[in-house]
Amino acid sequence: MTPATASPALSSPSLSPATPDKRLRIIDRTMRLHGYASHALIETLHAVQEAFGYLEPDLMRYVAGRLKVPLSRVYAVATFYHFFTLKPPGEHTCVLCKGTACYISGTAEIFRKVEEMLGIHAGETTADGKISLMTARCLGACGLAPAGVFDGTVVGNLTLDTVVNKLQAWRSHDADHRESAGDRENRNRCR
Ligand code: FES
Repeated sequence: MTPATASPALSSPSLSPATPDKRLRIIDRTMRLHGYASHALIETLHAVQEAFGYLEPDLMRYVAGRLKVPLSRVYAVATFYHFFTLKPPGEHTCVLCKGTACYISGTAEIFRKVEEMLGIHAGETTADGKISLMTARCLGACGLAPAGVFDGTVVGNLTLDTVVNKLQAWRSHDADHRESAGDRENRNRCR
């Protein structure tokens, strides 16, 4: 199939000709490898999510244009599969496995408490944009159940305490950073 050459509307910073984004090349390469065929849609959306962390509307339009599939189909696929997200992730990501081995080892209870603590449900991000909470069906680490992934690192044998400590550490670490930046600013003002 001949690659589509016409560029879709460019309104996102990542798609702006003035600020070309290297991540777009990864997406283009994925589509090119599949000859810009429409069946490459899921794989391309995976590439978008891996590169950008979520499916930005302009990028979905871009993919629809390149693969010549209706935008409605791109949205249908993006919203059908739970592993795609249309919202930007928080600064930190906590994924708790709810697969069978983890479930019977206690993640259900941990998950309930974490939802309470953060005030969000699976697939959501805290109002301050700090932490995204997600679930997985199996991380392929059943021997470590209950398991989770914290900012990309798999952690096994989770307990409620280890999870809560991790989340609190993220929050206080970020608060410390804000505090030291504030201290620096105050010091500079006093000079
Ligand atoms: S069920 Fe949780 S890692 Fe497999």
